[in-house]
Amino acid sequence: IADKGVALGDGAGREGSRVRVSGRIHRLRAQKQATFITLVDGGGHLQCVLQAGDLTKTYDALTFAQGTSLTLFGEMREVPAGQQAPDNRELHVDYYQVIGTSPGDDEAITNKVSSTQNQWDQQMLDNRHLVLRGDNASALMKLRAHVEWAFIKAYHDMKFVKVSPPALVQTQVEGGATLFTVPYYEEKAYLTQSSQLYLETVLPSLGNVYCIEKSFRAEKSLTRRHLSEYTHVEAELDFVDFDDLLVHLEDIICRVIDTVLDDAEMAALLKELNPSFSRPSRPFMRMKYSDAIEWLNKQDPPIPNEEGNPHVFGDDIAEAAERRMTDAINRPIFLTHFPVEIKAFYMKKDPSDVRVTESVDCLMPGVGEIVGGSMRMEGYEELLAAYDKQGIPAKDYYWYTDQRKYGTSPHGGYGLGLERFLAWMAAQHTVRTTCLYPRYMGRCKP
Ligand code: 4AD
Ligand code: MG
Repeated sequence: IADKGVALGDGAGREGSRVRVSGRIHRLRAQKQATFITLVDGGGHLQCVLQAGDLTKTYDALTFAQGTSLTLFGEMREVPAGQQAPDNRELHVDYYQVIGTSPGDDEAITNKVSSTQNQWDQQMLDNRHLVLRGDNASALMKLRAHVEWAFIKAYHDMKFVKVSPPALVQTQVEGGATLFTVPYYEEKAYLTQSSQLYLETVLPSLGNVYCIEKSFRAEKSLTRRHLSEYTHVEAELDFVDFDDLLVHLEDIICRVIDTVLDDAEMAALLKELNPSFSRPSRPFMRMKYSDAIEWLNKQDPPIPNEEGNPHVFGDDIAEAAERRMTDAINRPIFLTHFPVEIKAFYMKKDPSDVRVTESVDCLMPGVGEIVGGSMRMEGYEELLAAYDKQGIPAKDYYWYTDQRKYGTSPHGGYGLGLERFLAWMAAQHTVRTTCLYPRYMGRCKP
């Protein structure tokens, strides 16, 4: 017996070697002469054969069920390709130890018939801990881990410094309507909506910075791309102009995709999840907000605004309209130069047209907005006036406005929703399947 257990994914334990493997029963097929187990351990799958005559121990079929954890001992054999044994090998088991039994009904739960789609969705979400054991969910979680690492690698290669801003804050970034309030000793605090302001404060000392932290939004709308808690990849760049920011965004997105595709295992996973995925071509399309409005109005029939009227300058482009546009154009779009009125207080105005901001949303087919970014206002007085206009007490933001007082700079940054990025990459209908345990209005469990 090998003195060490063999991880299923590492290709170890070839023909003839004696091994010990531990894992859980993923699939079980009992026949008269033999029982076939597909063992899973997070690293991969292994077909295991228990032939009645080979075993030094008789087994009670009842202890074997989907989910049962066990350690199996036996001899590894090569299997001709095409026999449906993962990795073309199988373990001929001669001894086993059951570690933990399982009622084996997780498949029964996750396959239970529901009368409506919604009921089925809720059932899947209530049983997310079991759904996560499935091939599809685990493939998505592995892809997610790799994508997150690919962001870290890309920023590291670009010499951005990673920081970890606080989640408990007393200021807002993206509007008061979506703040979660929490009691904080004798005071009131919020869960952060974005780390942007904190990133800006360390530009002078650290240069370009980034963070991958949770952001929280008390979203009152139940859409397929809104979560109450999501993973926010944010970066801030010093001494750049708007065009530099856009080029950097293309670069980071393409680097991350390349890192994923360069990894054979991840490329295969992605192919399974989204067979038609291909690396977007650069440069990404650039479209001004005003041209987007025109595009929406020019469609036959026109795509209306939220009130059902033709879009006019100053209207929000609602999620549905945005999705129609991205799906029709079917490639990444940098939507730029949004009107001042519909964007956050900190955004820099376009010097050539002060009605609009140097802002960008990156839109992807199937999802819509996955990135929101902008250049930041540089002037101290201008920033104070912007706070005033929005009725936000600027004094609470002294640590932020001080950046403009103590040596301001042209700078900009963005936030990317990791769940949305993954929904685009892996062609998921909703961001609820691209995070471990989704939180949204009405759900805070399991
Ligand atoms: O467009 P947003 O609100 O921009 C900001 O928060 C900026 N302060 C970021 C920055 O410049 N550092 O959010 C950025 C991205 C969105 O494009 C979207 O991908 C994601 O965060 N996002 C959400 N994802 C899931 N659920 C939600 N409720 C989200 N809200 C925003
Ligand atoms: Mg946005």
